[in-house]
Amino acid sequence: MSEHLTVVDHPLVQHKLTLMRDKGTSTAGFRRLLHEITQLLAYEVTRDMPLTTTTIETPMEEMESPILAGKKLALVSILRAGNGMLDGVLELIPSARVGFVGLYRDEETLQPVQYYFKVPKNMNDRLVIAVDPMLATGNSSVAAIDLLKEAGATDIRFLCLLAAPEGVARMKEAHPDVSIVTASLDRELNEKGYIMPGLGDAGDRMFGTK
Ligand code: URA
Repeated sequence: MSEHLTVVDHPLVQHKLTLMRDKGTSTAGFRRLLHEITQLLAYEVTRDMPLTTTTIETPMEEMESPILAGKKLALVSILRAGNGMLDGVLELIPSARVGFVGLYRDEETLQPVQYYFKVPKNMNDRLVIAVDPMLATGNSSVAAIDLLKEAGATDIRFLCLLAAPEGVARMKEAHPDVSIVTASLDRELNEKGYIMPGLGDAGDRMFGTK
């Protein structure tokens, strides 16, 4: 992808996002909407996947028909909120391999610390799509991409639901080669690192932990 940031302004995406932002939306509703919106965003993040052709026979005649060209996909969830986006992408690309990155924030240094990392083999041969609904400060997202690159990944995209300008700038500075696809570029971060106007804590809203 050539653009560093793509905001998907499709009306269905924007409509579903409004429902997700609304604090009156239930946990079940939030989860279902995240699933649906992820499918639409996945369509965009895979838009330029390379095609080749194969020879098939329709009931009418033989034809050369487009088919995805080989490059295998690794979908990586940044725990825990990324898990809410996995199934939406997997429904479109069922053969994708799946990895997980777990990071927590050290309360003293405020730096992300890894507690879990498991990704498919041969990351260097794969298109890697990292998923996390919220690109806020960018600290954990950048750290997750650092780890994916250490594991060999060279072709990485970051798929999120909302992005803050601060997070986009941080990602661009640390990983200019990683393109971001999102449903919205929101106004700013507040003093606690929440995206404004945002939708609150995505993990709490999807898992009902608040
Ligand atoms: N993570 C969230 O879940 N929400 C925010 O607004 C920022 C980070």
